[in-house]
Amino acid sequence: MNNNFDDFIDQNLKLINQHLNELFDADATLNPDLKVMMKYSIDAGGKRVRPLILLAISNMLGTTSNQDVLTVAAALEAVHTYSLIHDDLPAMDNDDLRRGRPTSHKKFGEAEAILAGDALLTLAFQWIAATSLQDHIKSKLIAKLAMDAGASGMIAGQLLDIQGNHKQYTLDELKQLHHLKTGRMLLFPAEAALEINPTSTSVANLIKDFMANFGLAFQIHDDVIDVTESTVELGKTAGKDANLDKNTYVNLLGLSGAKEELEHVLQKCDQDLVSLKKLQPAMDLTILEGFLTYLK
Ligand code: IPE
Ligand code: IPE
Ligand code: MG
Ligand code: MG
Ligand code: MG
Repeated sequence: MNNNFDDFIDQNLKLINQHLNELFDADATLNPDLKVMMKYSIDAGGKRVRPLILLAISNMLGTTSNQDVLTVAAALEAVHTYSLIHDDLPAMDNDDLRRGRPTSHKKFGEAEAILAGDALLTLAFQWIAATSLQDHIKSKLIAKLAMDAGASGMIAGQLLDIQGNHKQYTLDELKQLHHLKTGRMLLFPAEAALEINPTSTSVANLIKDFMANFGLAFQIHDDVIDVTESTVELGKTAGKDANLDKNTYVNLLGLSGAKEELEHVLQKCDQDLVSLKKLQPAMDLTILEGFLTYLK
């Protein structure tokens, strides 16, 4: 339907994967065993949604996918992949399958999986520090990624997720959990692109608002597909959330309630794009629009 979007994904997915490989290959200081473990989880694939969004918004604001932007995108994927390795650990969600492969701890052992995750997280900051972006931009990106991924963001969300194992959250609490554990890592690509390509506050706020809504929709959709798709389709174990009695939109609202809520949040994304188009008629929004099809 949206050829523009399909072409964008085709081209940029290749660029991201190639750049990830180059970054690993260029670093002779990495412990070879850790490199194998890190690459096992990175190379398993995944949609690369976060880096693709970073490239999409950068392109929209005027920067081509240059080496520095690609490195920031790769760093984001490294942090995301670490978060999946740790999310799957026996002490967390205890999952055996991820991105269609045995999870890191199943393949290498639990201690090794913890270390592979630690190594990906720290390597991400090393990569950003080594870009040739201006120092003030680099330090902002490092600080923002630390906040979005750490104790003010994703890790705070993961703790709420674990603490929720023994109680049922309200819808507002669940929304906040989803915003932290998933939304913040999807907000980072917008923040990073805007840091690299400054624009007016009103345009920046609409792009961030779109991504905040997209992030919430992304996790509601993840809750939905946990019950509607098979293990083969997901590349991770289906039905896991009900087994673990997790606080999810499906467990709180039922499948149709969760789908309605997803639809409602996707409409907010559409509204943000309409407002953005009014404010900036020349801006090409077809790629951002395309990402919404992932959640339909
Ligand atoms: C899975 O993220 C974890 C969530 C935040 C829902 P993705 O659905 O982006 O997983 P990959 O990267 O494609 O494997
Ligand atoms: C998101 O939650 C995980 C992270 C923030 C890493 P889930 O636990 O629902 O993710 P999946 O379903 O295992 O991919
Ligand atoms: Mg989890
Ligand atoms: Mg999980
Ligand atoms: Mg899930």
